Amino acid sequence: MVLPRERALAGFRDHFGREPALLVRAPGRVNLLGAHVDHSAGLVLPIAIDRAAWLALSPRENGRVRVAALDMDDVASFSLDALSPGAAEGWMAYPQGVAWALRVAGFELSGLDAALSSDVPIGAGLSSSAAVEVAFAMAWAALGDLEIEKQGLASLCQRAENEYVGVACGIMDQTASLLGRAGHALLLDCRTLSSEQVPLPDRVVVVVSDTGVRRRLSGSGNYNSRRAQVQEGLRLLHAHLPEIASLRDVSARDLERLEHLLPEPARRRVRHVVTEIARVQAGAESLRAGRLEAFGEALIASHLSSRQDYESSIFELDVLSEAAWAVEGCHGARLSGAGFGGCTLSLVEKGAIERFKKEVGAAYRAAVGREPPIYVCETADGAEVL
Ligand code: GLA
Repeated sequence: MVLPRERALAGFRDHFGREPALLVRAPGRVNLLGAHVDHSAGLVLPIAIDRAAWLALSPRENGRVRVAALDMDDVASFSLDALSPGAAEGWMAYPQGVAWALRVAGFELSGLDAALSSDVPIGAGLSSSAAVEVAFAMAWAALGDLEIEKQGLASLCQRAENEYVGVACGIMDQTASLLGRAGHALLLDCRTLSSEQVPLPDRVVVVVSDTGVRRRLSGSGNYNSRRAQVQEGLRLLHAHLPEIASLRDVSARDLERLEHLLPEPARRRVRHVVTEIARVQAGAESLRAGRLEAFGEALIASHLSSRQDYESSIFELDVLSEAAWAVEGCHGARLSGAGFGGCTLSLVEKGAIERFKKEVGAAYRAAVGREPPIYVCETADGAEVL
């Protein structure tokens, strides 16, 4: 298999007949804990992973952007002066959206030729789209020497996805891709955007198990409809708690006292968000203290809450998670990313990886009838220009 780095470099030479000026790497992410809370100003705990989008590029005149999407076998181009939210379909919406967001923020952009290749699987809950957005944002920031911090770039990428692509996502994926650090999880406070690097114990790895079921957040409506239900819950709670600005401000006590006033499904959506934020807080503490058992319990509770209250799991994700919980040496598992398909993540003792693969693989084959890809995801540093 050709690695995406080599593929991007060779693809650039093939398509544009010269050497690229820059090479950018932007990783995907696995969120250890904190499902669907970034858009409620919550806390999340992602890692950047060793799967990434790679972009080889050079500037070009006349404000045009030509991109060879090597994995899709597709080449397309657009003009920086003709960008309109909602107009683009498919993968081109990401580079266009990033260009649009940077320009709306007042930055001057150069045209470019670029070749893109990624080994972050699409629709698997590993943030393939954020990786592509961040790769382009880093490319334009480097070419134009733009004065913008990484967190600022993350916010512009989020804006691209919210307003240009049309997914009402939070800030987690783009921030993880930009600020992740090898060997660490990023505890990100989505209210203040302050973050802390929490070291991961050496003796465990993050194992990703893939259901093989793919989803598209922009097409399915699932992501946005859940978000709307959360907003509705917040609006109704506001009548009783006028001081709250987001569900982050709702305590467990408030929830207990007021949840019966909310209609379904808003009640369960709100309960997921409020309890999940508390789980991240406690989970980060456990991780810092090396209490992996407690951390693993938070993973399991998170999955159950995603399943019952947020309803973002599917049968295949439940099979993989439950099988993982039963493996000796596995400290908990849960669905990754938005859910609705894609992968689970499990925290596994290094010595138990083979057993994990065998037992989870067998359980999945028995229940679903096919082999699930299962692999270790190493942590990685955030995006960089090479
Ligand atoms: C997607 C979104 C994120 C976050 C997760 C769920 O990955 O892009 O902003 O909401 O789902 O935690």
